[in-house]
Amino acid sequence: MPQNRRVIVVGGGLAGLAASLRVAEAGFVVDLFSLVPVKRSHSVCAQGGINACNEVARQQGYSEYEHFDETIYGGDFLAHQPPVYEMAHWAPRIIDLLDRMGVPFNRTAEGQRDLRLFGGSLYKRTHFAGATTGQQLLYALDEQVRRWETEDKVNKYEYWEFLAPVIDNNGSCKGIVAQDVRTMQIRAFRADAVVMCTGGCGMIFGKSTNSVMCTGAAASRCYQAGAWYANGEFIQVHPTAIPGADKLRLMSESARGEGGRLWVPRTKADKRKPGDIPEAERLYFLEEKYPKYGNIVPRDIATREIFDICVNQGLGVGGGNMVYLDLTHMGREYLEMKLGGILEIYRKFAGEDPIEVPMKIFPGVHYTMGGLWTQYTPKDDLHGIESGAPNSMMTNINGLFAFGEVNYQYHGANRLGANALLSCIFDGLFCGAGVNSYVSSHLYESATDLDQRIFDEPVAIEQAKIDRLVSASGDENPYQIGIELGVVMTKGNTVVKSAVPLEEALNNVQSLQERYTNLGLADTAMWTNQNLAYARALGDMLKLAEVLVQGSINRKESRGAHYRTDYPKRNDDDYLKTTVASFDIDSQRPQMRFEAVEIGLVPPRERTYGMVQQENKGEDQKASNPNAATATS
Ligand code: FUM
Repeated sequence: MPQNRRVIVVGGGLAGLAASLRVAEAGFVVDLFSLVPVKRSHSVCAQGGINACNEVARQQGYSEYEHFDETIYGGDFLAHQPPVYEMAHWAPRIIDLLDRMGVPFNRTAEGQRDLRLFGGSLYKRTHFAGATTGQQLLYALDEQVRRWETEDKVNKYEYWEFLAPVIDNNGSCKGIVAQDVRTMQIRAFRADAVVMCTGGCGMIFGKSTNSVMCTGAAASRCYQAGAWYANGEFIQVHPTAIPGADKLRLMSESARGEGGRLWVPRTKADKRKPGDIPEAERLYFLEEKYPKYGNIVPRDIATREIFDICVNQGLGVGGGNMVYLDLTHMGREYLEMKLGGILEIYRKFAGEDPIEVPMKIFPGVHYTMGGLWTQYTPKDDLHGIESGAPNSMMTNINGLFAFGEVNYQYHGANRLGANALLSCIFDGLFCGAGVNSYVSSHLYESATDLDQRIFDEPVAIEQAKIDRLVSASGDENPYQIGIELGVVMTKGNTVVKSAVPLEEALNNVQSLQERYTNLGLADTAMWTNQNLAYARALGDMLKLAEVLVQGSINRKESRGAHYRTDYPKRNDDDYLKTTVASFDIDSQRPQMRFEAVEIGLVPPRERTYGMVQQENKGEDQKASNPNAATATS
């Protein structure tokens, strides 16, 4: 094995840490880049848990196959099936590994790892550490990576921002250009493979449950460098977030998994306190319409129902855009033990104790199902993917991989709650072996042997970009454009979409792109200039936003999180396909095409979750655009 080869991992969340472990243990050196301290990566915000079959779940009738099937069904059949099959069958091993690493999973009185219900399943199959599961997993993996750091197999570059992949004359990725966000130094780093683990793009929507670094800029930079972007139109809006003036804060699905109930007063604009409203006068809208799944229907469905209740029916709490998430029937001791982390968050940001008073929540942008287009090698019978195949989650650019949320695989049109942590770690551990195969092969020239000019050129390009931004004297403020982008995207391209608002959104994004060329920066210093970093990212967000909207325009059907009032049905004949966008350098616009999805294991079926037909309130009502609600929430 060529020992002088090295791998760059960009992003210090679960996918990045797991990939670093897998690559370092194979004997290669990893350079791990993270915009923030690794322990502040966005994975730390994940709350509710991680899905896997275990022996207790198996005794209830659950299985890895069931996990696979419900993930495919939850994603409305848009995910390629072999990778999902592999992930579901790997899940129990991942939990065992995490347990051995010391993750403090909740346990039953008998000492078994405890399980809770989560959206889209009738089985308890979600492992959890209170309601701070992401944090516990992140810290455990970080400890493991530190062991490799002490052996000089992992070098951490915290506070470094990824600016561009370095592509050699054969079209292979051979490193990155990055910037130290404190000294503002820009330099190139050589590597034989680059693994992008940079998460989602929630900031494009302004307010979301995402951390502020989740701009999607890194993915956009890869896209502009030639990597394809898939299924951009599929953005998950989580049903339960705390509205806030600055951002939205997640109120975990685990609250409902543990027995929390969503309701509104049956009477419009009822002024009574929630505790004064008797049971008979409460509308438990999910339990009535979906008696089988109740409050744990998948997120796309729960979100649309909340919108319908508030915006179309006017039944939101106090006549506004809010519903109750009620835990008050559940008992202090139980709640503190199972949900302590999120109770604290609610107390801190809403100023009330959810054990005493129902929480007031509303949907918020949460997860990016789309992402960089990637490949895999299916097993002959499609039951899984080949371990160690060098193209495992590799983009269309040789040597450039995408793991975790920035990878479009696994979740199709709608991700099931608690499958994200799983897919991140699965990518890192399972597909990390593919990275090792790729760099072990002698097919490609080692990065260390390449001409320095290949690295100098992209550095000069990035330096010129910065010089342009710093010397620009236009009158547009990047933060103002960012706010307007969020409003445009939320209004036209979230829960409910249709042709006219989508075309408007596209025009608005393009005119924001135009205004972006007339920026002026308030801070032009070359020391920790966040103003500059944001302005640069904004340009990339605007490019990606166009991909997201164009994807929504082209997909004339409803599937998972993509719901169009003008095409309210799923249309497998025409759209059981992946959207693939590639960047056209001349026009600076996306070129879009569709590509077949591998559905060889489970044929598509109607996705109903046991919905009972209620009085038809009419699609016409849904045609009013309720998305505007999130923009002002
Ligand atoms: O609701 C939650 O706890 C979020 C989990 C997830 O997005 O997987």
